[in-house]
Amino acid sequence: MITPHFVDVDASAHGRAARLAVHVVGKGPLAVLVHGYPLDHRMWLDTLHGPLAQHRTLVAIDLRGHGESPSSGDAVHSMELLAHDVAAVIRSLSDGPADVVGLSMGGYVVFALWAAEPQLVRSLVLTNTRAVADTEAVRAGRDASMLTVIEQGRRAVVEGMLPKLLAPTADPMLRARVITMAENLPVESILADARGLKVRPERVSMLATITVPTLVVAGELDAIAPVAEAQAMADAIPGARFVCLRGCGHLAPMEAPAAFASAVRGFWAR
Ligand code: MLT
Repeated sequence: MITPHFVDVDASAHGRAARLAVHVVGKGPLAVLVHGYPLDHRMWLDTLHGPLAQHRTLVAIDLRGHGESPSSGDAVHSMELLAHDVAAVIRSLSDGPADVVGLSMGGYVVFALWAAEPQLVRSLVLTNTRAVADTEAVRAGRDASMLTVIEQGRRAVVEGMLPKLLAPTADPMLRARVITMAENLPVESILADARGLKVRPERVSMLATITVPTLVVAGELDAIAPVAEAQAMADAIPGARFVCLRGCGHLAPMEAPAAFASAVRGFWAR
């Protein structure tokens, strides 16, 4: 068990003040890990306990209203608001920039961080994420899941998502871990995340401006961030590396922790 530290975040144009739990392990330069939806820092447990901690001070953030971070009461978790949280964590733990790793929604947050405060970013790992905005069909799906959580509860939402989150062959323990995280997520956070995801801007037009070293990680069987789209994203970022992890769905760091760590280690050691 890693005892969390807490970082206070000031109110901003994007939302209220917040208190964030951050889970720190390892040694060396700072690397922050930003989780996806409907998850929390525990999606990074294998990463925190693996070989990367020999090379970086790994900081797994609980975004506001997730994991051990209390809710701020904001009705919308815009990606810009969550990026403000990540920026506050980097500033509180380092005098300089950090290596930044984001999975899916965490990747959308990282794009917003790059747009707002690129000086805080030393390098990027974008895993199982997308640069496009939601289509109307995806937005309608988010509206439906907001209704589901209100009428049927969190379990129904995560049960509906699981086939898209994990590869069909994934270890049942992973299903249990994902369900546990989703069931711990307050309904208010599920709604605020869904609203923020729905209105997030496209970032395809920003990719060419990314000037820090970048690794794009895809899961071979990812049903949310397809491989071809991830490859196109990497092609659009100057000098980006691309790796596709075989047999993985949307949660590659949980599904193939050793292969994920090895890809990130190789990238950080470049
Ligand atoms: C995530 O894993 O963070 C979500 O699947 C992102 C999304 O729904 O777009």
